[in-house]
Amino acid sequence: MGDWDTFDYDVIVIGAGGAGLRAAIESAERGCKTALVCKSLLGKAHTVMAEGGCAAAIGNVDERDNWQTHFADTMRGGQYLNNWRMAEHHAKEAPDRVRELESWGALFDRTKDGRIMQRNFGGHKYPRLAHVGDRTGLEMIRTLQDHAIHQTIEVHMEVTCLKLLKDGERVSGVVAYERERGRFRVFKGKAIVLATGGFGRAFRITSNSWEYTGDGQSMAYHAGAELKDMEFVQFHPTGMVWPPSVRGILVTEGVRGEGGVLRNSEGKRFMFDDIPPLYKHQTADNEEEGFRYTQGDKEARRPPELLTRDHVARKIMKEVREGRASPHGGVFLDIAWIKDRVPGGAEHIKKKLPAMHHQFKELAEVDITEVPMEVGPTTHYAMGGVSVDGDTQMTNVPGLFAAGEVAAGLHGANRLGGNSLSDLLVFGRLAGEHAAKFAGETSSGSVDEADIKQAFADALAPFERESEENAYMIQKELQGKMQDLVGIVRKEDEMKEAIAVIDQLQGRSAKVGVDGNRDYNNGWHTALDLLNLMTVSEAVARSALDRKESRGAHFRDDFPQKEEAEANHNTYIKKGPDGEMQLSRKEKEPLRDELEKIIAEEQK
Ligand code: FUM
Repeated sequence: MGDWDTFDYDVIVIGAGGAGLRAAIESAERGCKTALVCKSLLGKAHTVMAEGGCAAAIGNVDERDNWQTHFADTMRGGQYLNNWRMAEHHAKEAPDRVRELESWGALFDRTKDGRIMQRNFGGHKYPRLAHVGDRTGLEMIRTLQDHAIHQTIEVHMEVTCLKLLKDGERVSGVVAYERERGRFRVFKGKAIVLATGGFGRAFRITSNSWEYTGDGQSMAYHAGAELKDMEFVQFHPTGMVWPPSVRGILVTEGVRGEGGVLRNSEGKRFMFDDIPPLYKHQTADNEEEGFRYTQGDKEARRPPELLTRDHVARKIMKEVREGRASPHGGVFLDIAWIKDRVPGGAEHIKKKLPAMHHQFKELAEVDITEVPMEVGPTTHYAMGGVSVDGDTQMTNVPGLFAAGEVAAGLHGANRLGGNSLSDLLVFGRLAGEHAAKFAGETSSGSVDEADIKQAFADALAPFERESEENAYMIQKELQGKMQDLVGIVRKEDEMKEAIAVIDQLQGRSAKVGVDGNRDYNNGWHTALDLLNLMTVSEAVARSALDRKESRGAHFRDDFPQKEEAEANHNTYIKKGPDGEMQLSRKEKEPLRDELEKIIAEEQK
């Protein structure tokens, strides 16, 4: 096993996407000795896959916008399962966080009179997304990174965390390994912030890259934290479908925000069928009005392509299943059609969507200013995750905080596009603040050497085994089963089958052996990721099986409607005393009167 290096901090932030960076900045600014531990290289994060913008009710493009409308839109998008306290913080604080980012050097696109430009996105009543072309997440990461490196934060790159350490009930550290050399590290800390993102890699088709294996959710669960609303997994309606090597890569919702429309193989704009009642009054019923909306006409209603992602993804799947798919099994997304209707024509499209133009040219040899793209749903985001307190971001494990995608609450049953970038700024800051406060008020906990040695022995076990099973094959099987049995459309017998398969795969994972040594051994890393993937997959399948209705991103063929009896609870998962996964339902906390009134007002 060899030695390990030990590091001692006030606050350890695990994950260096937007939420992690923002939490680390806050913690360091409050005088805490802060570590930022990232699985990959600093700056390589799923944050960059939120391309189209950051939602904040600044009201630069439409002065009618305000925090109340943003709050009501977020709650309606989440089908009222959101933690309303988080939705309130988010809507109120997002504008300040965006302006703060600008003061740190973020170069947002501008309106003609020089203010931050905002664009339309699904489910947002007004143009609300501050953006940088279609590379907003990238610009945010660049800015946060530039700002962070001038703080006193110590960055540990290419270090994967394996297991949280506890002193009694509270968290006291984490064990990890260096991906490059395979050596072990122990981080001791008074407070830990999880900011590890989601678990798209539990599915076959995803916009997530290799890092997103549910590490934070799984470590929290095994340390005694509760997971919440794991049934709600967002399938972004538009990922690339062709060529096969790039299937799942994101095609930003910004394309639809700029006037892109969806058509089936018969050339029909199928999104005009079945507008959900909650959105009927806000949705255009003809092509012309929808187009005017995307070009800034404040009197017009939004096109049906800008309905919420859960609805658009399901509508696309319906076209595919009913035989009206594009040649490679998706549908057509056409932005080229606006060319003859906007000043600048093709140049306008390239200016608004430079990354999409480049992506399709390079990867699919398609010029999006000339012909439609082929797109289909891709696993993009987890609304469920670690349960946190809405005011502090602390979990039920003292000293353990979570922010960004790894945390549940803000988005309820479905996230509105653009709310993830504002989420990670608002709650990254809040988690950093409260982790720093917690660290300031407590002394260091102790870490148990026996726990550490056990964690390292478990990690090294695959080297001791004959290779009866292969980690890549198990991962691939799991991804296929999750996609097919717990994907966009779910049914009881299929989810039960998924749970049985996950159980078998867990057994097989214990027989995985790896060859070679510990230096950059990808087979070993894949074997170590399996526990996390299995944990989150089981939690998703069990939660989805328990919710007997269709709501937001969770759609059941056997219960296709929203059910009153299922409307008032969130789903919780925790580890039982014998290591079994326990599920419970808890009543939603009633809304404050004032917020209830805002929602009622906005529904008119
Ligand atoms: O479509 C997009 O640009 C993604 C944005 C988001 O997930 O928030």
